[in-house]
Amino acid sequence: MFAIRLTDARNSADASARVVPAGADGPLVADERVAAHCEARGTPQAGAVRELWHPDGPVLVVGVGAQTLGEWRAAGAVAVRAMTGDGPLRVLLPAAVPDDAMRALVEGLWLGGYHVRTPRTEAVDVQLTGAPTDGAEARLRAAIEQARAVASAVWFARDLTNAPASEKNPAWFADQVVDAASGRVDLSVTVRDEQRLAAEGFGALLAVGGGSATPPRLVEMSYRPPAARQHIVLVGKGITFDTGGISIKTREGMKLMKKDMAGAAAVVAATLAAADLRLPVRVTTLAPLAENAVSGSAYRPGDVIEHYDGTTTETTNSDAEGRLVLADALGYAVRDLRPDVVVDLATLTGANAVALGRRTAALYSHNDDLAAALVSAGEMAGEAMWQLPLPDDYTDLLRSDLADRHSSPAGGPGSVVAALFLREFLGDRVGDWAHLDMSAPSWSDSADGVLSKGATGWGAHMLVRWLERQGEAG
Ligand code: BES
Ligand code: MN
Ligand code: ZN
Repeated sequence: MFAIRLTDARNSADASARVVPAGADGPLVADERVAAHCEARGTPQAGAVRELWHPDGPVLVVGVGAQTLGEWRAAGAVAVRAMTGDGPLRVLLPAAVPDDAMRALVEGLWLGGYHVRTPRTEAVDVQLTGAPTDGAEARLRAAIEQARAVASAVWFARDLTNAPASEKNPAWFADQVVDAASGRVDLSVTVRDEQRLAAEGFGALLAVGGGSATPPRLVEMSYRPPAARQHIVLVGKGITFDTGGISIKTREGMKLMKKDMAGAAAVVAATLAAADLRLPVRVTTLAPLAENAVSGSAYRPGDVIEHYDGTTTETTNSDAEGRLVLADALGYAVRDLRPDVVVDLATLTGANAVALGRRTAALYSHNDDLAAALVSAGEMAGEAMWQLPLPDDYTDLLRSDLADRHSSPAGGPGSVVAALFLREFLGDRVGDWAHLDMSAPSWSDSADGVLSKGATGWGAHMLVRWLERQGEAG
């Protein structure tokens, strides 16, 4: 990560490139030449950058438009991508910059600066022009710390998701979580191995992972700060590679399936950030981890498996594995953890992208307040979601002659049917549950704003923003 230093522009005699943000009415810091340039050529669009010759050294004018959080974040990302040489990158801000704008700008600097496997260590000097008012500097430093927690969570989720499946098996993923959590206050991690999963009845997780040379794991993180009143359970799908199993995927369909643990990565990363920020909410995070492989010990289409909650599923198609492992984790959450709220994130269906395109997750919930809070956290984080219905009259699609339900009926809206399947495991918590099918936005084919090419870390930032609000609500 970059070192972000908050400094005083008046003490700087540095001639390296400076970044000057400009809104619709011109540059936000006083400079005659930059103002004259913007007057003559117009200010750059939000998220765009223009380089300008200046007697004090080159200036990068970045557009911040109407100064929404998203525009500040995009400006940070574009500025860091324009960075050349050894830095430091100097970003000039008015002393009166609001803390949430500072936070979004620094999030953008860090998120836009992410590169797979090449940690950046350059410095960024955020320089305040003019004297900050009382307490402002402390608030701005706190905003930078919040941005750091968010960015390190998103980086961690991206790193896990970009890791190739040759390295990333369930045990490896669990080890990464244990390592990352160590040393954090009020945070502990339990990893169940295959023997313990068998002893405790996690039948679906064992079935899905049964075809792999690397057996399944269940990661349980527990963040228990003393002041917490609410208990939130996060669940993330952790398929370290999805071949489809015996119902094997096509070559094209399988290509990116190392990312099928992006839900697990996001919930784990958000929990680390919650602990970093000392948020006053209790969070238990479950990541059911398995590789959906093809072999003689793989589960078959038509098998009937028994879940943690004692109900059974006829597994029509071994490629509908995500809902099975989530079902065991949800059943465990409801029966053993007694949470106030349950939110799950999963790269669950290709149908997510069919319905909503490449950047928007599908949101399902019977709880309108919870749904609205998640949408609003997503808006703060720049992570879009759209609510789809859970129609009762589609549930007959799930009925099976052999078991309590089918895993994957032919036909029907794929993302909705998968959500209806998960709903069966919520018991009396069904009214306090939300499900996010985030298959589409978990990956980006190109660098775009704060998104790097490859894994996006989708959901980690949104969850941190949502947990912050939950903490405020008590
Ligand atoms: N991991 C896939 C879903 C997926 C597809 C994620 C594309 C990201 C991009 C999931 O396990 C799956 O295979 N779903 C099937 C469900 C079907 C068998 C009912 C699908 O979407 O086709
Ligand atoms: Mn699958
Ligand atoms: Zn899958």
